[in-house]
Amino acid sequence: MTTPTQLPAWQQLETLAAAPQPHLRDRLASPSREQQMQASAAGIHIDYSRQALDSAVWDTLIELAQQAGVQAQRDAMFRGDIINTSEQRAVLHVALRGTPGATGSEAPWGDAVQQLVQTELSRVCAFAERVRAGEVKGSTGLAITDVVNIGIGGSDLGPRMAADALAPLCSDGATGVRVHFVSNPDAWALHSTLRGLNPATTLIIVASKTFTTQETMTNAASARRWLQDAGIEGAAQSPHLVAITAAPNKSGAAGYPAEHTFTFWDWVGGRYSLWSALGLPLAIAIGAPAFREFLAGGQAMDTHFRSAPLAQNLPVILALSGIWNRNFLHCPTQLLSTYPSRLVRFAPFVQQMDMESNGKRMRKDGQPVDADTGPIVWGGLGIDGQHAYFQLLHQGTHRVPVEFIGVETEDTPLPLAAEHHRVVNLNLRAQAQALALGRNEADTLQALMAEGMSAEQAEVFVSQRSFAGDVPSSTLWIDALTPHRLGTLIALYEHKVFVQAAIWGINAYDQWGVELGKTMAKAMEKQ
Ligand code: F6P
Repeated sequence: MTTPTQLPAWQQLETLAAAPQPHLRDRLASPSREQQMQASAAGIHIDYSRQALDSAVWDTLIELAQQAGVQAQRDAMFRGDIINTSEQRAVLHVALRGTPGATGSEAPWGDAVQQLVQTELSRVCAFAERVRAGEVKGSTGLAITDVVNIGIGGSDLGPRMAADALAPLCSDGATGVRVHFVSNPDAWALHSTLRGLNPATTLIIVASKTFTTQETMTNAASARRWLQDAGIEGAAQSPHLVAITAAPNKSGAAGYPAEHTFTFWDWVGGRYSLWSALGLPLAIAIGAPAFREFLAGGQAMDTHFRSAPLAQNLPVILALSGIWNRNFLHCPTQLLSTYPSRLVRFAPFVQQMDMESNGKRMRKDGQPVDADTGPIVWGGLGIDGQHAYFQLLHQGTHRVPVEFIGVETEDTPLPLAAEHHRVVNLNLRAQAQALALGRNEADTLQALMAEGMSAEQAEVFVSQRSFAGDVPSSTLWIDALTPHRLGTLIALYEHKVFVQAAIWGINAYDQWGVELGKTMAKAMEKQ
């Protein structure tokens, strides 16, 4: 297997990176640049004109993707080939989204998978609607008012993030059932959720692909004890329990009723499972039609990813600019900065997706990767970050590439919502520009003197008041934060991770690295 650094395009990129690099201030002075470095698809627009690269680098990055066989690897994933080689599994979360035939083409993964997916999706949607309609009753015949999803990692981050992002659609106490999420096994996390709830009207969802995760099982046992202490025990617990798992034999043995068990398959990675039955809490919160819209949004990005030329392909654009920053500009981290407050959990969600997928040092053929792989992905809400860690981006010693995410429209029913929206997006644009341009000492001197300092005073402070700039960033604009667009955005990041793994030659779909800690916890428990 050819290593990434053996590819001719990689070597050419190294030569290009070794040449003197113009400052982003000079790159952005070119009038055509901003127009050229833009791409749109499925309601998402990417402006990558503030990446520290020129057309020679860009063309070579595209060649790198071609030489690494990204397209062939992509087609293998959609076909259901065993691309998760260390676990001998296909990787088919893409089969979970969208309506069959909606793209006008046959499902590349085949009818058998399609049938499985559609059957389970219908069960999930029907159950979600019954809960929302008050038709699902607890053991005393009272309708369910609260749903508590117990899960961790991929069995928590996705539905929780999406429920926040789609909060305007979510039912609450006044409009229907409330959906709560508990992931941490610290007692307070569960207690603080359960203490306000009535056991007789609470549904406990235990979401775990393996149904063995210690943290989740601890919380599940404790929640069942809470039911028991309220007099709901034995068979009476069944109406209050739901299992979502790829191991229904395990959940069945633990007493979760078959009619309340929703399944997915080993070819759905935990961090890619939001599209599966794992999305049940989201479907309950936003309703089945909106959940199907969300799936269709994911499918819209799949269609784009499979058909758009590499140079206009949004996941490829994000992946290649990330490779340039990671491997050739040697930036170890990637900041994800979301400006709509409803995307508050998007960065932690992508953090798991990216770092658990591409945090690998060995290639699929068992040999070490001879280049750096997945960056440290971190971030959160941009505006809050501006008043916390952005100082380091502007004047610290790290060069931190940023992906800004903004929404073009605002529909919050608040009298001054348009003004809020203006302030939020103004800040996003200002940060991207300030990080790129910086402010040199000559301009700083002038600014200080304009503030009223003498030339002598200004000389004293000028270096501390200047900004190096040249911080690369891309800005993603979503036209509206709807279920469809959220699905599109998530699938965009999934495919970005895929493309980077394809270039590095690593398996993005196993996670052996998290096993050692689990094994040690078990060994220590025995001791
Ligand atoms: O420990 C990591 C991990 O295996 C993740 O990959 C997964 O999302 C999470 O734990 C939860 O696993 P499960 O859904 O099997 O409980």
